[in-house]
Amino acid sequence: MKTQIESLKERALAACNGASDVQALQEARVKFLGKKGELTALLRNMGNLPPEERPLVGKLVNEVRDQLEQAWKQKETDLAASKLQAQLEAETLDITLPGRKPRKGTYHPLTLVLNEIKSVFISMGYQVVEGPEIESDYYNFEALNIPKDHPARDMQDTFYLTEHLLLRSQTSPVQIRTMERQQPPVRIIAPGKVYRSDADVTHSPMFHQVEGLLVDKGITMADLKGTLQLFAEKLFGPDTKTRFRPSYFPFTEPSAEVDVSCIICKGQGCRVCSDTGWLEILGCGMVDPRVLAGVGYDPEEVSGFAFGMGIERIAMLKYGINDIRLFFENDLRFLKQF
Ligand code: FA5
Ligand code: MG
Repeated sequence: MKTQIESLKERALAACNGASDVQALQEARVKFLGKKGELTALLRNMGNLPPEERPLVGKLVNEVRDQLEQAWKQKETDLAASKLQAQLEAETLDITLPGRKPRKGTYHPLTLVLNEIKSVFISMGYQVVEGPEIESDYYNFEALNIPKDHPARDMQDTFYLTEHLLLRSQTSPVQIRTMERQQPPVRIIAPGKVYRSDADVTHSPMFHQVEGLLVDKGITMADLKGTLQLFAEKLFGPDTKTRFRPSYFPFTEPSAEVDVSCIICKGQGCRVCSDTGWLEILGCGMVDPRVLAGVGYDPEEVSGFAFGMGIERIAMLKYGINDIRLFFENDLRFLKQF
């Protein structure tokens, strides 16, 4: 009987330790320790033993049962622990893997160029002012020495809203609005949107200009040339050359258009500059005495210069962009490059 008990214990322990999961462990428990299990069957046979041996065998069976219970308990704990371990390993996060970055916005190339232009002129002591985009015929034309039926009106194909109101075709009306408000000296730039009925690879119906105006005692064409030369060098690099070409604007006399040496080919001649080596960036001139008189300034006392540049043209030059429409399509593949 004792041998039977020992052998049962060995087999039960082997089954317990060999169980690979909770289910197998439970089945082994039923087999050895269950109500209809082997240990119970042994106990039932105790009746066949001589009475003096019964207590001893009973004690042995109890001991074995305790040991087995203990073994099962331990095994249950081990299985639960290794199951948890396996689960943790399977669910591991690799925190060294780079995350998905949120897309960062960038400045529009026109904003970048405008900011640069502003900082160049601010560093020379200019103030930044603004004017309305819906303008009166008076400020956009008349006060700028462009009377009705003057042929110069055809230079800028204008969107009229009513007989007297229009979408400004240039930032020059801000010159008048500024001078009406203050006495000389005046030193301002006026950036903003302007509108013309005009559309191709270098012309957009809405585009941006930066107006400049300086009025003071003793201002000459040399001041204008020096200012714009310095501006071109700061914006396009120290080797940039400028060229003043005689031109005509009704509100300046004399008038000029300024070319910069082509920054793409360095003046050698290429497609961007139509093989001339030069690119036009702005119109300018000495403020016409009639304009000064019109706002109540004394042309015998003060003189000044003005200029107006196209921001799209400057951005196209600076970044080598060959189609003005790219600025307004807002294609992210284009915008992300700046
Ligand atoms: C003027 O608009 C004058 N108001 C400039 C001026 C100001 C002269 C002060 C004298 C004194 P113009 O029409 O040439 O001039 O335009 C100036 C610049 O705007 C051009 O050199 C060009 O760079 C840009 N520009 C003109 N039309 C367009 C257009 N449709 N699309 C994009 N840029 C344009
Ligand atoms: Mg022009």
